Amino acid sequence: MKRACVIGWPIEHSRSPLIHGYWLAQHGIDGSYTKVAVAPDDVAQFLRTLPEQGFVGCNVTVPHKEIAFSIAEEVEEAARVVGAANTLWLEGDRLFATNTDTYGYMTYLSHVVPDWLAHDGPVCILGAGGAARAIVYGFLETGVEEVRVFNRTRERAEAIADQFGPRVKVFDWDNRSDASRDACVLVNTTAVGLKGNGSLGIDFAGFNPDCVVSDIVYVPLETQLIADAKSAGLRTVDGLGMLLHQAVPGFERWFGVRPQVTPELRKRIIADIEG
Ligand code: ATR
Repeated sequence: MKRACVIGWPIEHSRSPLIHGYWLAQHGIDGSYTKVAVAPDDVAQFLRTLPEQGFVGCNVTVPHKEIAFSIAEEVEEAARVVGAANTLWLEGDRLFATNTDTYGYMTYLSHVVPDWLAHDGPVCILGAGGAARAIVYGFLETGVEEVRVFNRTRERAEAIADQFGPRVKVFDWDNRSDASRDACVLVNTTAVGLKGNGSLGIDFAGFNPDCVVSDIVYVPLETQLIADAKSAGLRTVDGLGMLLHQAVPGFERWFGVRPQVTPELRKRIIADIEG
């Protein structure tokens, strides 16, 4: 039996076991996927002893993604650019790591709005943490000409521009509505709106009608940002799709089957969020 898990601190909230459990059952795979609470002081030891514990790999969530990145022996480009890893697997006794946030975000965006690049405005990103870095990288890889980053703490946005070069431009957080009007995509990567907490205060009046508005927050599924964008007649992309799609590469690595993000899986996770 192949065993995988997700580690974090705390870990109770993780929906990853539901996602992977659904796929294991769907494909009749003799495997398991559990959640394990691992305290910060114990992460290094836990990851170094994955083989002895009988795991073929694991997901890593907050606050362990950076240490997982530094401990892995082989790191894929997608993790290197973010400086954090969320998916680990063993090849022999060597520990490999990647970050599947870029894949998860870009896959779902293209699934929901295949023509998101139809008009040539900039991509506007709210926030400058790890998720922002993964998403900026995704857009640059796709060939977007300008990515604007807005962050409450401007230095963190500047660090992203320094890393990725002149296609990334830093804008004032206070100017986030006005400077996003010509956007082809606007993305919230901050935690603002999670469980109804706070408002990003984006005024969609005057936005390009082709702008796609997306949020990586998925609790609630319809955040204030998404609701406001819908009211303004804009197309929207929720945050749940990124969560579901980012899980695909890990499952394939560990269990040897590339799983599908089905409507039924989505329904189950929504039921869990709403339950
Ligand atoms: P992650 O790695 O998940 O992206 P993070 O590194 O903690 O998380 O980044 C969180 C992001 O949300 C940051 O851009 C943060 O802004 P600061 O860099 O100024 O801290 C942003 N954020 C969190 N709370 C916010 C709030 N109330 N208003 C605006 N931005 C907020």
